[in-house]
Amino acid sequence: MASYSNVIAPKFEEVFRADFRLKGRWAAEIFGNGNPLVLELGCGKGEYTVALARKYPEKNFIGVDIKGARIWVGATHALQNKLSNVVFLRTRIEFICSCFASGEISEIWITFPDPQPQQSRENKRLTSERFLQSYRQILQPDGIIHLKTDSESLFEYTRKVVKANALQVISCTDDLYNSGCADDILSVQTHYEKMFIEKGFTIKYMKFFSTG
Ligand SMILES: C[S@@+](CC[C@H](N)C(=O)[O-])C[C@H]1O[C@@H](n2cnc3c(N)ncnc32)[C@H](O)[C@@H]1O
Repeated sequence: MASYSNVIAPKFEEVFRADFRLKGRWAAEIFGNGNPLVLELGCGKGEYTVALARKYPEKNFIGVDIKGARIWVGATHALQNKLSNVVFLRTRIEFICSCFASGEISEIWITFPDPQPQQSRENKRLTSERFLQSYRQILQPDGIIHLKTDSESLFEYTRKVVKANALQVISCTDDLYNSGCADDILSVQTHYEKMFIEKGFTIKYMKFFSTG
């Protein structure tokens, strides 16, 4: 993947307690326009990132994941299809504040994150207070977060965190495909979503503002 123009893989020392060279400069240096910038966190093979990029050519998309082999799938697809509004960032989500400047991001998608059911791992959940704080740092004041999950426990947990922080919920359903929700971007199915649907899980979706 080293030769891929659409994959950015900072070294540890470039993001650990450091500002990555592209922080605040994604529009100018990577996309060459000032279009809104949207992240997918834990993007895996990047199905959502690519689908979003196709549907919204007037926005730019960055899929973030630590696993190179997964990112490779989405990056290859984006290159082959000449999608110029999508790139992938291989890093830990813990480092997003090193990678993006305050207010640089307009929306965040979190798709089928690991539910981390053990209480001792609460702060590893991508919708924990700790992560929400870093999302707030990089999101615009009216920034939006989307969560799609099969996990009842993570969904309930997220509802509680959203309520405790008085965040405004825009949309919320614990059975997306029987909710009559008309937005066709919500019907995109990732690798993990397909696996969970085959196992009979219902898909849950929540869209909320990152600030109260
Ligand atoms: C269950 S998979 C879901 C992948 C994809 N969103 C999907 O729906 O198919 C969770 C993904 O999050 C990534 N991930 C988990 N924790 C991460 C972290 N702290 N930083 C970066 N990536 C992370 C994993 O590498 C994995 O690809």
